[in-house]
Amino acid sequence: MSTSERVPHPDLAALGLPEEAALSKLASQLYGMPPAGSSWNKTDEVAAPFYFQDYASLEKGGIHAPGQLSAAPQLAAVAPPAGFDVELVRRDFPILSERVNGRPLIWLDNAATTQKPRAVIERLAKFYEHENSNIHRAAHELAARATDAYEEAREKSRAFLNAGSPNEIVFVRGATEAINLVAQSWGRQHIQAGDEIIVSHLEHHANIVPWKHLADEKGAVLKVIPVDDDGQILLEQYANLLGPKTKLVSFTQVSNALGTVTPAQQMVAMAHAAGALVLVDGAQSVSHMKVDVQALNADWFVFSGHKVFGPTGIGVLYGKEELLNATQPWQGGGNMIEDVTFERIRYQKAPNKFEAGTGNIADAVGLGAALDYVNRIGMHNIAAYEHYLLSYATRLMKEVPGLRQIGTAPDKASVLSFVLAGYETEEVGKALNKEGVAVRSGHHCAQPILRRFGLEATVRPSLAFYNTCGEIDTLVSVLHRLRSARPIKVV
Ligand code: ALA
Repeated sequence: MSTSERVPHPDLAALGLPEEAALSKLASQLYGMPPAGSSWNKTDEVAAPFYFQDYASLEKGGIHAPGQLSAAPQLAAVAPPAGFDVELVRRDFPILSERVNGRPLIWLDNAATTQKPRAVIERLAKFYEHENSNIHRAAHELAARATDAYEEAREKSRAFLNAGSPNEIVFVRGATEAINLVAQSWGRQHIQAGDEIIVSHLEHHANIVPWKHLADEKGAVLKVIPVDDDGQILLEQYANLLGPKTKLVSFTQVSNALGTVTPAQQMVAMAHAAGALVLVDGAQSVSHMKVDVQALNADWFVFSGHKVFGPTGIGVLYGKEELLNATQPWQGGGNMIEDVTFERIRYQKAPNKFEAGTGNIADAVGLGAALDYVNRIGMHNIAAYEHYLLSYATRLMKEVPGLRQIGTAPDKASVLSFVLAGYETEEVGKALNKEGVAVRSGHHCAQPILRRFGLEATVRPSLAFYNTCGEIDTLVSVLHRLRSARPIKVV
């Protein structure tokens, strides 16, 4: 049965009330929750089964028929894409059959890392069983197989980003290394005292620390684009920061802590109009939306393989070819030189110039398999299904008394950061883990943006296309149970 065929919980129909009232009554019967409109004074944790979870076991859908409850103000009610069968997709991910603390694993830590489809796991095994060799350097058969597989992965990465040439694709360890590469190569070559580098308040540490190092070393100035209370970029203030001293703007396409999707194309154009170059951090975007680097027109674009269903330790730096060729290398060693004497060194052109030493060959090949897999599912299906899930989860989480959602931009992807009144984020994370639910709780390596909201930490469920409404129901049922264990007065 596909998700589009989900039916309302039979008990709701039996209660014969409008759905919201029925839910409230059912919750009150099963769970000791106060009926809607009354204040909550229950002090004991209720031992009754989680009603959301019960329903989840009947059917992969949730207790709320989609689109029937009042929609969250920012997120329109949506339906899952026709023909997208999440249960079929889940069979491709062996780890999703794992049990944790006696419960089925519910992986809601996708912003930290994604799980791997069998196609990726098997591709890695095939590489080591049939192709393993160093690349570019030998005349034997396995060197040819490994080189072909590695360069094929480069071509797949090019196509995935719609880059103009495979020469614009540099394999790196991940988004963090890619940003450090740009800071240490182009940055050290071009940034001077008094120059200005702009980042946004949304950035994770990987897109702050390399620029702060560079600014401190060069006597340059780091400026920050502010965001509003929903976590959206304040474009007018960004425009005011741009000026003749701006040499570089570096910002994320999707915030890892809040989920905000930034108006990246517009921001790139604004930076270019001011004469600055632009790096866009796609670590959190590439698994949720189609990225076209030519349309985006950023000078550099970076992402990590492990956040797009590929292996850890591999990622991509895209850079415009002319720019890469005009940039000094960062690390030196084999594989990147054309000729070496003790007097002078001639480098190869990009991308080899930036791939000194033996790279992560097998995982680049694994990344290629992950991108093939994502293409087979279809980015339009992924984006539509995740939007549906995000909308569903946002709506249910709003109903948990004392839950404050952090990051409420209308344009969001995947992330559902929150704090629960009366609980440390760590406690919530542990309670969820007991039920098999994996979320990140903490500062998400993005302390400045959490502090913007007066917080040091949040709980952060984050979605991928293999998550289900039933899993969201389990998450929310645990939150309701925590709430009932430490009631607050509901105003
Ligand atoms: N940047 C990763 C996260 O958001 C590690 O969890």
